[in-house]
Amino acid sequence: MKAAVYDRYGEPDVLQIRDVPVSRAGRNQVLVRVRAAALNPKDVLIRRGKFPLLDGLTFPKRVGYDWSGEVRALGPGVSWPPVGARVFGMIQAWTAGACSEYLAANVSELALAPENLSFEQAAALPLASLTALQALRDVARMPAGAHVTIHGASGGVGVFAIAIAKQLGAHVTTTSSDGNLALCRSLGADVALDYRQDRVVDPERRCDVFFDVYGNQSFQQVQPMLSAQGTYVSTVPKRHVFVRWATTALSRQRCRLVIVHSRAKDLSLLATWAESGILKPVIDSRFSLADIREAQARVETRRARGKVIVTID
Ligand SMILES: NC(=O)c1ccc[n+]([C@@H]2O[C@H](COP(=O)([O-])OP(=O)(O)OC[C@H]3O[C@@H](n4cnc5c(N)ncnc54)[C@H](OP(=O)(O)O)[C@@H]3O)[C@@H](O)[C@H]2O)c1
Repeated sequence: MKAAVYDRYGEPDVLQIRDVPVSRAGRNQVLVRVRAAALNPKDVLIRRGKFPLLDGLTFPKRVGYDWSGEVRALGPGVSWPPVGARVFGMIQAWTAGACSEYLAANVSELALAPENLSFEQAAALPLASLTALQALRDVARMPAGAHVTIHGASGGVGVFAIAIAKQLGAHVTTTSSDGNLALCRSLGADVALDYRQDRVVDPERRCDVFFDVYGNQSFQQVQPMLSAQGTYVSTVPKRHVFVRWATTALSRQRCRLVIVHSRAKDLSLLATWAESGILKPVIDSRFSLADIREAQARVETRRARGKVIVTID
């Protein structure tokens, strides 16, 4: 089967499409014919060698964590989902592999794809929408009626965070560049700010949860606007986040990091929300598997509106 692979860390030109053996579905896995994958900054960071201890130091490496497709075979111990089912999911292991024609997927890391979405739209969901859901619901423990600021709201995670925050009953303020203000409003932002013109941190604005999706603010910067029991949640594992996480462990105002987990139950909830129109995938661009270098280069610009999709025919 064809798969995106690379033999050393580096720029997008290390990426290649090669023939590799078709995966086999192991225990508690299904074999999926992948139809679409979505890329994330994580793919770029790993390819650049930023996490050598986590991704295993061995080559060749595979690409992609988000996928959608059809079940082709069931592994030992699996009775669901049936062969032929449309499914989507996120690979938890750092080994990746969504950008390939076939994938052995853990049943605990997939769900039935939303019936109203194309494969491309379904692939846009997993990692980014799971991150938004788990950051707001589980890490921030955001109560209904909370005022949330989503910083970096027009990217992969941000567009889902807007809709999920609204669904959880929040008043939502977003930050983006000028060109994405209308997008943020169309997704449900009550207030859309331009981070170049407006104050991202404004002590006059109520903020119970500050979701730093882009990751260039800090708990210390944001603290003056956080309410008495407010939470700052970052997506980016920087040193200052860990330090403040430790020092606010017992405080009412908290600094936290979200670490996304692939969970079938959460994927099913997100699929239900997609089917009822609460979650609408935003697709920045589509590339064929053969154009994996260009696809990753687009993610690397950090200017994508929503998700970069790789279609796999
Ligand atoms: N910890 C975890 O489990 C986890 C999970 C998922 C993602 N992440 C991390 O979360 C971050 C965001 O992920 P993503 O998928 O949303 O990334 P992304 O899709 O690449 O984000 C692109 C967005 O970033 C915005 N942006 C660019 N420069 C900005 C700036 N200076 N200030 C504010 N926003 C800016 C852009 O908006 P404009 O064009 O409007 O400026 C663009 O829409 C990444 O660092 C990723 O690695 C972590």
